[in-house]
Amino acid sequence: MLITSCGNSIDIAKSLARKLHAKYSPLEISSFPDGDIYLKFNKIPKKETVVIVHSFQPHPDMSLFDIVWAAETAKDLGAKKVILAVPYLAYMRQDKRFNPGEAISSKIMAKLLNKSIDKIITVDPHLHRYKSLKDIFTIPAVKLTANDVMADYIKRKIKNPVIIGPDWESYQWAESIAKSIKAPSTVLEKTRFSSHRVSVKMINPIPLKGKNVVIVDDIISTGNTIAEAAKKARKQGAQSITAICVHGLFAGDALDRLKKSGVSKVVSTNTIKHKTNGIDVTSLFVKELGKRK
Ligand code: R5P
Repeated sequence: MLITSCGNSIDIAKSLARKLHAKYSPLEISSFPDGDIYLKFNKIPKKETVVIVHSFQPHPDMSLFDIVWAAETAKDLGAKKVILAVPYLAYMRQDKRFNPGEAISSKIMAKLLNKSIDKIITVDPHLHRYKSLKDIFTIPAVKLTANDVMADYIKRKIKNPVIIGPDWESYQWAESIAKSIKAPSTVLEKTRFSSHRVSVKMINPIPLKGKNVVIVDDIISTGNTIAEAAKKARKQGAQSITAICVHGLFAGDALDRLKKSGVSKVVSTNTIKHKTNGIDVTSLFVKELGKRK
């Protein structure tokens, strides 16, 4: 097995290789003077399984392009199989045509990957209107979840936590984590007016006064969802508020917004490299890829 990366998720790729006792060799990717892509394997993966470990952030558009280039090159060089281990899979939120004429990006992304790779493994993809990855992928597609590693973090670091899911979609993470660490939990009802304006309502109130509140979501993008939830929790007297997400996109001034709303600490997993990373998802990939050794 040869483990490689197009540039993102290098730490996960190296650690994965160490833990699986596999070779690690990064790709050489640059541009010709005219802007055309240049890609080179430094180890020729003849008759080997190639695992491309690469998150779609930063630069989701280039990432998709680089992955397709890498996978096609691997096959051209004689690779037996190409597996994409993608900690953060982008484009999943554009899962329908919200306005006439729009691209359904998730379908296009999947179509390109279906043609070039043999299997995809990802962590907590944003499945909203799709029931499963099978709705868009024709290749084997494995959905891993960061629930256990997030639950473990909360158990180790936060005393007597109360878990909040800021909307019904996020409640699948919040509820499962709360159950596994035996903490009380509740969900808020979110109304989204635009990508920057949301409001949340507590529909099943639980006591938050003096509690260490943990707000759990799959994605923090602009931070508006968590910020609104944090304001509610502060109003109800929460002692501390920790925001935990699987995928920290932190678009624009998201971190400032979270701080101003009363969030005491922000923690993300390393599916996207960021200074808030505090939870490692490598073990999830080790378990999945280790199965086939
Ligand atoms: C939405 O359905 C997701 O679960 C997140 O709640 C959402 O993507 C967060 O976005 P933002 O940080 O921009 O409010």
